[in-house]
Order: sequence, then structure tokens, then C-alpha cells
Amino acid sequence: MAERFSRIVGLGSYVPDRVVTNHDLGEWMDTSDEWIVERTGIHERRWVDEGARIGSSDLGVEAARRALDDAGLDVGDVDMIIFATLSPDHQFPGTGVFLQQKLGLGPRPVLDIRQQCTGFVYGLATADAYIRTGMAERVLLVGAEVHSTGLDRSTRGRDVTVLFGDGAGAAVVAATDDPARRLLSAHLYADGRFAKDLWLDGMCAARRPPLSVEDLEQGRLYPRMNGRKVFKHAVTRMPEVAREALAAHGCGVEDIDLLVCHQANLRINELVQQALGIPPEKVHNNIQRYGNTTAASIPLCLDEARREGKLHPGDLVLLVAFGAGFTWGAVLLRF
Ligand code: UT7
Repeated sequence: MAERFSRIVGLGSYVPDRVVTNHDLGEWMDTSDEWIVERTGIHERRWVDEGARIGSSDLGVEAARRALDDAGLDVGDVDMIIFATLSPDHQFPGTGVFLQQKLGLGPRPVLDIRQQCTGFVYGLATADAYIRTGMAERVLLVGAEVHSTGLDRSTRGRDVTVLFGDGAGAAVVAATDDPARRLLSAHLYADGRFAKDLWLDGMCAARRPPLSVEDLEQGRLYPRMNGRKVFKHAVTRMPEVAREALAAHGCGVEDIDLLVCHQANLRINELVQQALGIPPEKVHNNIQRYGNTTAASIPLCLDEARREGKLHPGDLVLLVAFGAGFTWGAVLLRF
């Protein structure tokens, strides 16, 4: 019997229309276009409309429909949903079931992944495992975030707030027996010693009380980050895990057709590219226009790269991510 693999058969993405520039942010906090561009490469990001009740599942459903169209599949062909987000619609249940309901899909497995910026890479690895073991045929994998409603817009939060944007990306992952177009391997890591270097402390079962006036005053409902530490670990771990993925298949950097890194900071990605020695024409970044969209950033980039003619059937593609947890990982695939 032929070996069973998985491959991406459809891609889609969606961002809200509202553009928020660095100058717009300067209206709310002490920051500048110059600071943001120099340190991060970000010029603008998309945020959902002010006051609109739009959650990650609403952006995700648009990206999901586009990915299904791209795959030439009907919604009912999906036999499992994996939803990756750090900005869930609600504390519980998971956001995947809200997406399921919006797609009008009947009972089937739905799994939420909470691996933040590494969420899409963990999601691909999980989809691949379900498919290879015969537990699923076609998995809808969605990464979506509405960050803008959970950010501190005062100067206190400027180190974090200027980085993040809202958006969604989706992939349909399906079973295949074609070894020339398939996911080759996934390499996943986490190190909980750094859990509090990028986290949200407030409103959780581990606090007594879960939410206090002091929490609100101290801004504990907003994400906090040790930016320098995150930066330092990202530029070490991403090239390391990228090399591990290539070595697992006897490939060199010169074999890569397209490198897509998680979009957290253009400076991080430039250092990763330099460390790997990969030329700019084999890399796609779009953080300049979307900021950091966490679990959505890799599929948003992949979808755009393909539309711009940078991604072709059979290409060797390396996906690399790093984020809160700390979590990091790489997926090598033949598109
Ligand atoms: O997906 C994973 C998530 N996050 C990341 O990967 C982020 C990784 N880290 C980074 O990208 C960088 O650390 C940042 C871009 C967040 C910050 O850059 P930095 O060069 O590490 O700056 P810093 O935190 O050391 O701050 C330098 C100065 C500080 O002022 P003082 O103390 O020198 O007076 C900050 O208060 O810059 C100030 N600052 C800002 N100034 C204007 C911090 N944020 C801002 C801002 N605008 N938005």
C-alpha cells in the first residue's frame, strides 16, 4: 500500500479594511513612525472597526471560505477543523466551534491550538499527524487574530501595541500518496522557563481573585513582553530549527525555493535570513503592511507569496516560527 502523506491543497487569507498607520498610533501614545519603522520594519497594520463585535472566528471564516474555494472543495468536505489563535472570541469554548457554526458544519472534531506565534506551525504538524494516521482526510487549518481590542493604547503599552495587527489565514490540508508534493516534516519545541517573558497575567483561574480593580489599574489585562529577551531567543532558535528541518532531509539552504518566517519583526527575519545565508528573492515578508498577526502570519504570507508568483507547485518551502511560551518550530514541505 502506498504511504500516506498530507499536503496543502488550498490557501486563503483575509484582513479587515481599516488601515492603522504608525502616525495613527502616535495620536494615542508617545511613539513615532521613525521609531517603529527603524526597530520593526512595520509601516501599518489592519485593525477591525472600532466598536464592531468582530472576533477571530469572523476573520477566520472569511479566510477559510477562500481556502476552500482555492482547494475546489465544499465546506462539507472538511472532516476536521484546527483553529490556532491567541485572541480567542471567548475564554471558552474554543474559537474553532464558533468557526464551525459560522461555516454551518455539522458534528466533527474541532481542535483549538494555543501556541501563539507558533500556532500555525503546530497546527500543520497536528493536521499532518491526524491525516497520516488515517484519523482525518481533509483538515481545515485556520490561524486568526483580533489583537486590536486587547492592546494597551496608552504609552505604557507602546512596546507591544505597535507590533500587532488583526488578520486571518487558512490552509486546507488533505491526504495524498504523492511523495513529490507533501509535508516532509515538522520540528516543534517549547520552553516554559520563558512563559512569563511574553504573556497576559490577568483574568485567569490562577489569580485570586481572577480579576481585581488593581489588575485593571496595573494593566494586567494587556500582554506584557520582555522584548529584548524575545528578540535574542528568536534570532537564535529560528535558524537552529530551520537547519534541523533541512538536515533531516539531507537538504541545504540552497535547495529552498521559499522561506516564510513568522512576521514578528522585520529585523528578526533579516537576521534569520542572514544567519541562514538565504538570498532575499527566496524570502517573503509582509509585516510592513500587516504587523504581527501571530497565528495568522504564516498563512497570510504564504497566500500572498503565491498570488505574487513566488510559490509554485513542487517548491521546497521552509516555514519557521517563534513566539510566546517560548514556542518555536519549523515545517519543511514540497508545495
Ligand atoms: O511574535 C513574537 C512576539 N514578539 C517579538 O518577537 C518581539 C521581539 N522584540 C522586539 O521586536 C523588540 O524588542 C521591540 C521592537 C519590541 C523593542 O525594540 P528594542 O530595541 O528592544 O527596544 P527596548 O524595549 O529596549 O526599548 C528602547 C527604548 C525604551 O526607552 P528608554 O528606556 O531607552 O528611554 C522604550 O521605552 O524605546 C522605548 N520604546 C518606544 N519608543 C517609541 C519602546 N516602545 C516604543 C515605541 N515608541 N513604540
